[in-house]
Amino acid sequence: MEALLATLPAGSWRAVAATAAAVVVLAAITGVRMWSKERPNMPPVVPGLPLIGNLYQLREKKPHKTFAKWSEIYGPIYTIRIGDSNVVVLNSTELAKEAMVAKFPYISTRKLPKAFSVLSHDKMMVAASDHGDFHKTVKHFIMAGLLGSSAQKQFRDTRNKMMDNMLSTFRRMVINNPRAPRNFREVFRDELFRLSLTQSLGEDVSSVYVKELAREISKEEIFQIIVVDMMTCVTEVDWREFFPNLGWVPNKRFEAKVATTESRRTAVIQALINQRKERIVCGEARESYLDFLLAQNTLTDENLTLLVWEAIIESADTTLVTTEWAMYELSKDSKKQDRLYREIQEVCGEDTVTEEHLPRLPYLNAVFHETLRLHAPVSLLPARLVGQTTTLGGYQVPAGTEVIINVYGCNMSNKEWDEPEEWSPERFLDGRFEATDMYKTISFGAGKRICAGSAQATSIACTAIARFVQEFAWRLREGDEDMVDTVHFMGYKLLPLYVYLSPRRGM
Ligand code: HEM
Repeated sequence: MEALLATLPAGSWRAVAATAAAVVVLAAITGVRMWSKERPNMPPVVPGLPLIGNLYQLREKKPHKTFAKWSEIYGPIYTIRIGDSNVVVLNSTELAKEAMVAKFPYISTRKLPKAFSVLSHDKMMVAASDHGDFHKTVKHFIMAGLLGSSAQKQFRDTRNKMMDNMLSTFRRMVINNPRAPRNFREVFRDELFRLSLTQSLGEDVSSVYVKELAREISKEEIFQIIVVDMMTCVTEVDWREFFPNLGWVPNKRFEAKVATTESRRTAVIQALINQRKERIVCGEARESYLDFLLAQNTLTDENLTLLVWEAIIESADTTLVTTEWAMYELSKDSKKQDRLYREIQEVCGEDTVTEEHLPRLPYLNAVFHETLRLHAPVSLLPARLVGQTTTLGGYQVPAGTEVIINVYGCNMSNKEWDEPEEWSPERFLDGRFEATDMYKTISFGAGKRICAGSAQATSIACTAIARFVQEFAWRLREGDEDMVDTVHFMGYKLLPLYVYLSPRRGM
């Protein structure tokens, strides 16, 4: 999901960098002045170059970090120029909430990067659509059929099975080779994908015949085509996005890559949908999100493809990112892990942790929110377009401006958080937050477009973390203490987490 949500480029920077380099050289030779015209009552401007604006300063693949650095110089709100567009960047929770809640009516249109526009068939998904009737309808579908509380009750057994399977796998691994470090991600990712498939399609698909590929593909290939390739594709940059006047210049490599990835995704999802329809004809019980969508009798094949794909990809990613970082931090800090273990023992005793216990585990809740703060899976929210001139932080923001919310900048601001670079769940227990407050950070967004899957993500991640710590003592593989790098601008841990597990009770 994070890759789908992020809007700033990070993937193929070569073309952009080459254009930027050429303009930098040109500017140096001709002595052209930097782009930095201050405008009264408008957010401060970060100086850039003519034509490309600040594009050349963003060529390293972590724009969220560059934005956060600029906020130390220019303040929490400033303007940059990316090619032909004026972009206002927000780096404080207060400003982010102002934009997402109070000023939502003026700033509600999505500005999608080209690759995501193609993959979403021009905004035909909940997360990509603009505020309006289509969004209202499909948001209702995803809540009623998958993510709302009664739909989530229906998938309770699937989530329990996911937990039991992960624990059994870890136990087996420890019995087979007690001293070897374990790849956490492999175990969690497989089970999370199984859950995504089961709740979206009604079964843990093991393979599917795809007519367009003229063969049966395995579950691993399904994952590759509908999840991994999509994540990579969405970070592909079409440099023409920044210079609409040059839209006529061909960019065949980009177009071919996105078109191929999109058509393979569509072929696989349609094959999965057809496979499910055949099982329904054979009398299988209807209890998945797809079954719910089919029962509406109003959706086209294209609608079904995009909505089912959205449900799979969004549940197969961010929850893994958060749980992996939480286990990384707990494995690194035995004192905090002990504190969590003691809390679990006090509340659950000998009973296995279940979702019912979660409201009574405040330290676990704090571990989850602190992980979302320090390692937000979505570090930059999708750009929004100002439809009608408005104000933000007292500054005027004209219609046509793009607004980017830098979640990383908000969560790492030392004006809002003491020692923001420290992972410290205790900060959420000092009375400033309600135990039930889901949105302590803006890592789930805010306002009308707040994450629709936060309840599912919270119950899966928290139950998993608690059960992992209840059953094993976790320790990081030696030398991995500083492995905090992420994939580009995403929250995804660059290298998978490796841990040693010691059983806390007999297995
Ligand atoms: C820790 C896990 C997660 C995080 C941090 C997260 C983060 C976000 C954020 C920041 C947004 C808002 C984007 C914006 O304002 O533009 C969002 C929207 C959304 N998320 Fe999540 N997400 C998570 C898990 C999930 C899961 C598990 C699902 C579903 C299976 C999901 C489905 C959605 C949907 C459908 C939207 C669009 C809501 C709308 O536009 O009305 N998310 N998510």
